[in-house]
Amino acid sequence: MTCATKILGCGSYLPEKILTNEDLAELVDTSDSWIRTRTGITQRHIAKEGELTSDLGFKAAELALIDAELNISQIDAIIVATTTPDNIFPSTATKIQAKLNMKHGFAFDVQAVCSGFVYALTIADKFIKSNSANNILVIGAETLSRILNWQDRNSCVLFGDGAGAVILGRDQTGESDIIDSMLHSDGDFYNILNTDGGPSLNGGMGKITMQGKDVFKNAVSKMSATVKEITEKNQIPLENIKLIVPHQANKRILDAVAERLNLGNDKIVSTVNIHANTSASSIPLALKEALGNNMVSRGDYMIFEALGAGLTWGSMLIKY
Ligand code: UT7
Repeated sequence: MTCATKILGCGSYLPEKILTNEDLAELVDTSDSWIRTRTGITQRHIAKEGELTSDLGFKAAELALIDAELNISQIDAIIVATTTPDNIFPSTATKIQAKLNMKHGFAFDVQAVCSGFVYALTIADKFIKSNSANNILVIGAETLSRILNWQDRNSCVLFGDGAGAVILGRDQTGESDIIDSMLHSDGDFYNILNTDGGPSLNGGMGKITMQGKDVFKNAVSKMSATVKEITEKNQIPLENIKLIVPHQANKRILDAVAERLNLGNDKIVSTVNIHANTSASSIPLALKEALGNNMVSRGDYMIFEALGAGLTWGSMLIKY
């Protein structure tokens, strides 16, 4: 039996503390004008001391449950996409499971960096379509501020903290909201964006290092290519897509993707100005904003797309 996957609810949470570009200019040799013109970012949220990835993810999950009008007893699994887990192990998903007082089902993390949410949602969709789960809570949660080198102006101005969650549910009769997803990776690009440490490498955690221009070029070409391939494969003309919800890394990347696809900027959700790059959290955070602003209605076609370290990239075609 083939089952359909429905999007039942969405929630998001941002830490209270805001760090503006002016605040950053007091920490490193940068300026509001450089950050705005090169990235479109004006501010980012930063978790306070003691506020963990699991805390942000838990709050987003609670709001998604309210939005979906479900309680935790109706959730069969939790999948968390994160690059900044509370601990190397156990998974942050099991920590959130405990915070939600969920005593049944299973929970695990997915690591695909900024593409993590697309990967996690794809896995959840497959569980549902193969009739292995009814409702799955998918969370993107990050405290990237903990792995930034606050002396490196090339990277520390780009990232922020936050979390978003989507609940997927099974429908035995109706049409699927998730039509298709396409995932890619290419480990030849391992070193253009990574941390300079890890448990196996040097027993440490490491901080983010990045060859910005190479990542930029790959982001523009691969994110536009994955939108094209998924629409062509499913024979949906691009002009029928109401909204693209991309990973939020840099406004110039979003504009370049829009230009390559010949799409108006109004079709591409942009929240990078207020959230900065929140890695696996950026798509559900942007989705929540788009839903709140009625940018998409039931029945509209949407595409989620992302590129992250690995490199990993991919897209998901939705009929909301
Ligand atoms: O989720 C995926 C993760 N990351 C990304 O997608 C990021 C992709 N890359 C980018 O967004 C851009 O490459 C950056 C925003 C990181 C950099 O923009 P750019 O236009 O490629 O600048 P650049 O690296 O070529 O640097 C230009 C100049 C350099 O100075 P010189 O050598 O021309 O004198 C940098 O040292 O800007 C300087 N610079 C800064 N100046 C002020 C670099 N960072 C800063 C800064 N403030 N924060």
